[in-house]
Amino acid sequence: MKKWIVILFALLPSMVLAAGPKVPLDSANNDLSDTASLQRGAKLFMNYCFGCHATQYQRYERVAEDLGIPKNLMMENLIFDANAKIGDLMTNAISTKDAATFFGAPAPDLTLVSRVRGTDWIYTYLRSFYEDPSRPFGVNNTVFPSVGMPHVLEELQGTPVKQYKKVLIDGEMVEEFQGIKSLGNGELSAEEYDDAVRDLVNFLEYSGEPMKLERQSLVCG
Ligand code: HEC
Repeated sequence: MKKWIVILFALLPSMVLAAGPKVPLDSANNDLSDTASLQRGAKLFMNYCFGCHATQYQRYERVAEDLGIPKNLMMENLIFDANAKIGDLMTNAISTKDAATFFGAPAPDLTLVSRVRGTDWIYTYLRSFYEDPSRPFGVNNTVFPSVGMPHVLEELQGTPVKQYKKVLIDGEMVEEFQGIKSLGNGELSAEEYDDAVRDLVNFLEYSGEPMKLERQSLVCG
């Protein structure tokens, strides 16, 4: 018994590492009471994420009502599945098995991801993809190393690259990793991209807790 405890403690550091290096998280600073931001977030989500990730615990109709989106606009502009009805749950076409085959990991349902990961984590994650030719999709992520997800917002952000600085260690010049830097080669400026990601995070936080929005509007009148 004691031997197992010793082995467990010896393994602990590597187990912690396997969960990913601790990268400082940036604050999302999203605002659930900002309906325009939630609407923009829903649009980004349906365009860039819903192809792989469902939010199957919520219905289109509820989202339209909560976010003040007229139902016909929701059907025409945000629901791309011709067979979907406004009262349907937000499931999608890609099966877990297909995703696992394509990406080496299933694309998890995102209804509750903001509760599990936290908004700051998602905000940082979506701004932390960088060029890495050794990976299947040519990108890696500083907060989620060896991630199976491609950089789906690449056309908006471009692809950041790793930055190194030459430093002198023990009389030898070595390259020290400084973090990643966006080259600004996407459609949006760095600031606009941060705003877009903030809107997405806002929508994901709302998805995890539509009741929060209701409670806030009750409190605020
Ligand atoms: C082409 C398919 C695809 C698209 C599109 C996509 N993802 Fe992903 N996503 C994945 C896969 C696969 C994983 C699992 C990665 C892994 O486990 O290595 C993932 C993981 C994630 C995670 C981490 C979940 C967790 O807790 O582990 C988040 C958050 C996420 N995606 C958000 C998004 C958002 C937001 C969008 C839209 C901007 C998006 N994804 C678009 C395939 C996709």
